[in-house]
Amino acid sequence: MTITLDFSDKTVVVIGGTSGINRGIAERFARAGARVAVASRSQDKVDDTVAALTAAGAEKAMGLAFDVRDPEAVAAGLAAIQAAFGAFDVLISGAAGNFPALAADMSVNAFKTVIDIDLMGTIHVMKAAYPFLRRPGASVINISAPQAFLPYEGQAHVCAAKAGVDMITRTLSLEWSPEGIRINSVVPGYIADTEGARRLAPTEKALEMVRRNIPQGRLGNTQDVANACLFLGSELASYVSGQVISVDGALYQRGSGQLGQMIGQMLRNPPRTDT
Ligand code: COA
Ligand code: NAP
Repeated sequence: MTITLDFSDKTVVVIGGTSGINRGIAERFARAGARVAVASRSQDKVDDTVAALTAAGAEKAMGLAFDVRDPEAVAAGLAAIQAAFGAFDVLISGAAGNFPALAADMSVNAFKTVIDIDLMGTIHVMKAAYPFLRRPGASVINISAPQAFLPYEGQAHVCAAKAGVDMITRTLSLEWSPEGIRINSVVPGYIADTEGARRLAPTEKALEMVRRNIPQGRLGNTQDVANACLFLGSELASYVSGQVISVDGALYQRGSGQLGQMIGQMLRNPPRTDT
């Protein structure tokens, strides 16, 4: 079966789009012919991504460096993208930070850092983008995580932040539907060769344990997540809004069980690095 979705003459904005899953999403929309803009903190990562998007076939590509924790910088950045590329047809908000740490061992600032990036960063992006979303027709996608609805040891900060992200998604679907704006969350499972997966399963043994727990028998890849975003960004999904959609090979139908415990055990008995 050949499936082609054409995003030519569409503006796609990917916040946190310069590595891993989000970059895979940006490149997928570039291959579909969109004008693609990305943003993250590192100018080097932005420049590298813009070159890749152009090579992948984007109608136009641009990138900006800013931190989602700074609402004024986010507002200025999104205004610059709108001035260059026009109203946003698809907005993906996926900037995030994570590290495993038990709540009792974590400083208040460590907890707050993840809340500030994942949760406050999301609302900064939503508020700054709102005036620039195409009406009717825009599709907003927040990149969430299984921690939003499953507790994991060592992840209190991420669980709290991503649960909030999904409630932003669900609430804004009520507020924005009358204007013809859709909004959904996409929840990646364990995605191979990404920073997020490396931080939670840093050894081959841990990864093997993850793999054994995935009903489909493999880790996900960035294209699995990008394809779901392509669908949600397209008119095929015109009646889908306010949803939290997992792309995880059915992993989380098992619950967090062993995987949540694995992170706690790793923190209490760190793997030896001297052997
Ligand atoms: N365990 C416990 N606390 C940690 C930690 C860890 N592994 N890593 C950072 N922290 C704490 C720091 O000690 C600091 O707290 P303190 O001021 O009380 O000492 C706080 O978190 C902020 O750390 P800092 O390094 O100043 O934050 P930053 O803004 O420079 O970076 C992070 C943010 C920590 C989230 C960093 O890991 C990052 O930039 N991540 C982006 C990439 C990523 O996480 N990818 C996976 C996405 S799922
Ligand atoms: P990643 O490669 O570290 O990507 C994070 C992106 O966000 C990078 O582009 C990073 O670029 C940017 N970023 C981080 N902090 C930022 C900030 N304060 N302001 C602006 N940009 C910032 O991680 P990933 O593993 O691919 O994760 C991507 C998304 O998927 C995240 O939302 C994560 O929660 C979610 N997720 C991942 C997995 C997984 O298996 N990897 C599973 C479930 C959910 P800079 O460093 O340049 O800022």
